[in-house]
Amino acid sequence: MDYQNLLLEKNDGLLTITINRESKLNALNGKTLQELKSAFDMAYDEEEIRAVIITGKGEKAFVAGADISEFKDLNELNARKFSEEGQEIFNGIENCPKPVIAAVNGFALGGGCELAMACHIRVASDNAKFGLPEVSLGIIPGYGGTQRLPILVGKGIANEMILTGDMISAKRGHEIGLVNHVVSQDELMNKTKEIAAKILAKAPIAVSHAIDCINAAHTNASGYQTEANAFSSAIKTDDFTEGTSAFLEKRKPNFTGK
Ligand code: COA
Repeated sequence: MDYQNLLLEKNDGLLTITINRESKLNALNGKTLQELKSAFDMAYDEEEIRAVIITGKGEKAFVAGADISEFKDLNELNARKFSEEGQEIFNGIENCPKPVIAAVNGFALGGGCELAMACHIRVASDNAKFGLPEVSLGIIPGYGGTQRLPILVGKGIANEMILTGDMISAKRGHEIGLVNHVVSQDELMNKTKEIAAKILAKAPIAVSHAIDCINAAHTNASGYQTEANAFSSAIKTDDFTEGTSAFLEKRKPNFTGK
C-alpha cells in the first residue's frame, strides 16, 4: 500500500509508525485512520514485525484528535458508524498480539489521547499534553476514550478529565497512571526503543498471551456500544454544530443545551 499520511519504518523486528500530518497537528482524518488500520493488518500478518511504536511527526503534536474539519459530514446515522469504525481500529491496536508502544511527542488530544490509550504502553516527552476535550465541541469521546481512561486512571479522575475537557501535563499523566514514563524530548525514542527491546528479548508467544489476558480483564463490549450510541446522539444537537463551528472559526462556543 502507498501511505500518504503515515511514515513506516521497519528495523530489527520493530515497526515504527509516524503519523505524518504535521501542519494539522497530525489530526486523524478518515484516510489516516484507514492507513493506520492497514499498517496494523501488516503488523498482525508479518512474522518479522514483533513490536510496534506509534508516534507523531514534529515536536508539537502526537495527534491533536480526530480531524474536526470532517465533522461537518456527520449525521446521526453515519456518526454511529464513525465511532464504531474508530473503536474497531483502536481495539485492533489494543488486541495486537505484538506489543504496541506510544511515543507521545506533544499534544495527545481527543482521538490522539484515545490512540495512545489503545497502545499497551505510553512513553511521553516532557512537553506532551493529554486531554479528552470533546465536550468543548458538543460531543463525547467516540473511539473508546470513555472506556479506557477510567481503566487507566480510575473513575473519579476520568470523570474530571472528560467532563471538564481539561488538558493535563505529561508529569500529571504520569502521576495518575496514564503515562508509564516521562522523558526529555531528546530521549523519547531511545526510551521507547529500550522498552521495546526488553520485550523483544522475551518469548513472543508468551508476550501475546499476556496481552490477551490483560485485555480480557478489562473489556466491556456494552460500554463501547453505549459510547457509540451516545456519540451519534450528540451529533444531532445544536451544541455539536456550534462547538465544531466555533473551533473552525477560532472562537469560543456559545452552548445552549439544545
Ligand atoms: N482537527 C482538524 N484540524 C486541527 C485539529 C483537529 N483536531 N487540531 C489542530 N488542527 C489544525 C488547526 O485547525 C490549524 O490549522 P490551520 O493552520 O489550517 O488553521 C493547525 O492544526 C494548527 O493548530 P492551531 O489550533 O492553530 O494550533 P495552536 O497551537 O493554536 O493550538 C491545540 C493547538 C492543540 C490546542 C488546538 O489546535 C486544538 O485545540 N485542537 C483541537 C483539539 C481537539 O479538540 N481535539 C479533539 C477533536 S475530537
